[in-house]
Amino acid sequence: MNYRQQFAEEIYTHLQGLSEVDEIHSLIEEPKYNTHGDLAFPCFTLAKKLKKAPQQIAKELSTKIDAPFLEKTVAEGPYLNGFLNKQVVSKQVIRRINTEKEDYGSSSAGAGKIVTLDFSSPNIAKPFSMGHLRSTVIGNALANISEKYGYKAIRINHLGDWGTQFGKLITAYKKWGLEEKVRENPIKELFYLYVMFHEQAEKHPHLEDKARFWFKQLESGNEEANQLWKWFREESLKEFAKIYELLDIAFDSYDGEAFYNDKMDKVVQELKNKDLLSLSDGAEVVELAAENMPPCLIKKKDGATLYATRDLAAAIYRSRAYHFEKSFYIVGQEQRLHFEQLFLVLQKMGYDWAASLKHVPFGFILKDGKKMSTRKGKVVLLEDVIKEAIDLAYKNIKTKNPELENKEEVAKMVGVGAIIFHDLKNERQNNIEFNLVEMLKFEGSTGLYVQYTHARSCSILRKASAENNLSVSGLTDSYSWTVIKILMDFPNVIEKSFQQAEPSVIAKYVLKLSQDFNKYYGQVKILADDAEQSSRLALVKSVAIVLKEGLKLLGIKAPEKL
Ligand code: ARG
Repeated sequence: MNYRQQFAEEIYTHLQGLSEVDEIHSLIEEPKYNTHGDLAFPCFTLAKKLKKAPQQIAKELSTKIDAPFLEKTVAEGPYLNGFLNKQVVSKQVIRRINTEKEDYGSSSAGAGKIVTLDFSSPNIAKPFSMGHLRSTVIGNALANISEKYGYKAIRINHLGDWGTQFGKLITAYKKWGLEEKVRENPIKELFYLYVMFHEQAEKHPHLEDKARFWFKQLESGNEEANQLWKWFREESLKEFAKIYELLDIAFDSYDGEAFYNDKMDKVVQELKNKDLLSLSDGAEVVELAAENMPPCLIKKKDGATLYATRDLAAAIYRSRAYHFEKSFYIVGQEQRLHFEQLFLVLQKMGYDWAASLKHVPFGFILKDGKKMSTRKGKVVLLEDVIKEAIDLAYKNIKTKNPELENKEEVAKMVGVGAIIFHDLKNERQNNIEFNLVEMLKFEGSTGLYVQYTHARSCSILRKASAENNLSVSGLTDSYSWTVIKILMDFPNVIEKSFQQAEPSVIAKYVLKLSQDFNKYYGQVKILADDAEQSSRLALVKSVAIVLKEGLKLLGIKAPEKL
C-alpha cells in the first residue's frame, strides 16, 4: 500500500536500469496543488544520465506507465505527475484499516529493541509542578509512540527523593512541624515547611548549617533522619499516585535519586581511575573547559553528592539493567546544560552508548503570559487543576447532552483529554498558555473536538442498519478522497513523531483528520442507499479506528458517545 514505492518501481522498470529504485523513490514529491495529482516525479536528475531534456523524459514516461493503482500519469513540464486511482486505492486503504484495526500504523522498526524514558520525576515533599505535568504527558505519549513503532518502552520515574533539601526539610519539621498536619495534607504542609525554612534562613543563617548537618546525618544512615525521610517520601508518593491515576499513567520503575546512594562511590572511584576528577575550591569536578562548558560538579566540599552524580550512576545502571538502544530524558529546557554535561562526562568515561542518550526538552506553561511558579508558597495543586477541568467538562456535557449516560466517566475522559491535548498539540519546545475554558471548547483545536468527531463517527455506525459486511468496492468522490489520503499517511506520521520525539505530529494529524472528516460529513450523505454505502460506512469505521488509536497514543480516551 506504499504507493510512493510502487510509483518508483513503475518508473524504474521503464528506465531500463538506468537509475536505482531507491534514488527514484527519494526524489518523489507530493504535488503542490491537488489538481496536479497525488505523486510527482521531477525528471531533472535523470536528464544528465539519459542525455535528454527532463520535459522529454516526463513525456515518454507518461505514455509508457500503466498500472492499476494509477488512474493516469501526466507530464507537466519537467514533472511526471501520477494520479492515484481513487476507487482502487480507497478500497485497499479501507480494507487494510478494517482488517488490521488498532494495529494499523504499527511498525516493527523497533522490534527487539528497548527504549527507556525518564519522565515525570517530581520532587518529594514539593508540589507536582506544571513542568512535571508537561514531562508526564509528553513522556507518556512518547512511550506509547515508541511501542507503536515496535520498541519495548521502559517508563522510569526518576523521583527527586534525595538531596540537600531534605536536610532543610528535616530541620524545618523538627522546629515547626506537626505530625497530624502532615498526615492530613502532606504536600501542602511539607511545602509550607520548606518555604518557611527559606524565609527564616534569610534572617537566621545558622539554619543552613543545621540543614547541612541533617543531610549529612541522612547520608550516613542516621535512624531518625531516615525515618522522617521515608515517611515524607511515602506520603508524597501517595499524593502523586492520585495524579497518575487521574491521568491513567503507570511506570515500570520508581527508582529515584535515592536508589543510587549505594552506587555512587563506585562512579566517583571510576572517574578517579579514569583521571577525570580535579579539585576546585575543595569540590571534586570534571573539567569541561575544553568543551566550553562549566565544570560538572561531582562531590561538594563536605563530601555530599549532587544531582549530576546521581544521574551519572543512573545512566550507567540503566545501560546495564535495560540494554537500551535509546534513552530519553523528558525534562524542561532549563536543564539543558545539565544534560549536555552529563552526556559529555559519560562520553569521556568511554561509554559509547552515551551517544544514544537524548534530552527531550520542552517549554514553560504560562498563565496570562507569565511563568507559573510554585515559589513563595503559593501552591496550586495539580490534582485540583485536573479536577477543575473534569468539573468544567461535566457542566458542559450536562448542558449539551443531558441524556448522556455515565456523564461522570465521560467528563473525566474529556477533562483529562483536554489538558493533555492542549499540551501536545503544540511543538514541545514552545511555551504554552494554560487556559481551561479555551481547552474545553467544542470547536477549534481541542481534544474535545477530536473526541467529538470520533463519537460522531461511532454514532453514524450505530445508525447504519445492516451490520457493515466489509463489501468495500471503493469510493470515487473527492471529499472521501481527502480523508483517504490522510488515513493513508498514519504510518508515516507515527514514524515521524518517533524520529522527532514529537507527539505534536500526531496531535496535529488527528485534528486534520477530524476537520476533513467533518467536511466530508457535511457534504456527503453517508447513509444514502446506493452502491457505495457500505464503502462509505467502512470509511467511517476507518476514521473511528484511526482517531481512537491516535488519541490513545497521546494518552487520551475516546468515548463512543458524547
Ligand atoms: N526531579 C527533577 C526536577 O524536578 C527532574 C529529574 C529529571 N530526570 C533526571 N534523570 N535528571 O527538576
